[in-house]
Amino acid sequence: MTSFKDKIVVITGGNSGIGYTTAASFLEKGAKVLITGRNPGAVQQAVYALGHPAEGFKADQSDLKEVRRLADYIQGRFGTIDSLFINAGFAAVGPADALTEEEYDKIMNTNFKGAFFTIQYILPYIKDGGSITILSALNANAGMPGTSALSASKAALNSLARTLARELAGRRIRVNVVNPGVIETPLLDKAGLTEEARRFIADKTPVGRLGKPADVANLVTFLASENAGFITGAEYNVDGGLFVHPLIAS
Ligand SMILES: NC(=O)c1ccc[n+]([C@@H]2O[C@H](COP(=O)([O-])OP(=O)(O)OC[C@H]3O[C@@H](n4cnc5c(N)ncnc54)[C@H](OP(=O)(O)O)[C@@H]3O)[C@@H](O)[C@H]2O)c1
Repeated sequence: MTSFKDKIVVITGGNSGIGYTTAASFLEKGAKVLITGRNPGAVQQAVYALGHPAEGFKADQSDLKEVRRLADYIQGRFGTIDSLFINAGFAAVGPADALTEEEYDKIMNTNFKGAFFTIQYILPYIKDGGSITILSALNANAGMPGTSALSASKAALNSLARTLARELAGRRIRVNVVNPGVIETPLLDKAGLTEEARRFIADKTPVGRLGKPADVANLVTFLASENAGFITGAEYNVDGGLFVHPLIAS
């Protein structure tokens, strides 16, 4: 098993779903992990459930003042970190002609602007030779109806990662993107995905099921590890093969 002994990992939005499971996986491999979230109670509860040496910090990724506070906290608490996992995201689905400006702003401010400035503010504290992994989504590249702004916000992250991989090469910081398909997390309830819709998607997925948070965590921890030392500017789908199925384009 890859060891993250003496490594420090920061995960935005780590109190639920993919972020939480990825935090647990890094901890199991010996890392120290700091998770964030908007809800301080949920962050504290998750830190308790994850156990030592997990730590938490309340920070809304869409609020740049809170992002700045997070960066200052990281500097004071750790000095430098090894890996940053940009995981926090917001999803609102519906046809483009019905999307409100408020929904648009929330999607863009959380998923792209917030992610961009989280990276910018924390960058001085990422060690040379460290890594940044960004969670995008399969629909960044899929042209999936009902996800116009959401998909665009995620596609912007894929583009950002390619640019940063070049810009940060001088510091040997690797930057990669993970595109999950449909993963069973509380997000699916928040997005109103019915049981019937989940069964339909699972049936159409080549591996025959929806994804689990651990499917994503396995790849994220790999990309942060020394075994991925030759990988930067890359993006990977974790989707059970869904992308190759015409369902996604229908
Ligand atoms: N599940 C899927 O099928 C799927 C597919 C593709 C991509 N993704 C991406 O995976 C990421 C994680 O989603 P999930 O499925 O694990 O959902 P989840 O279980 O709902 O978890 C979302 C996490 O993000 C945090 N969060 C949300 N908005 C935030 C903000 N503005 N600032 C800081 N933290 C915030 C939440 O904590 P608080 O509520 O306390 O803030 C929570 O910890 C998202 O970026 C999502 O777009 C998920």
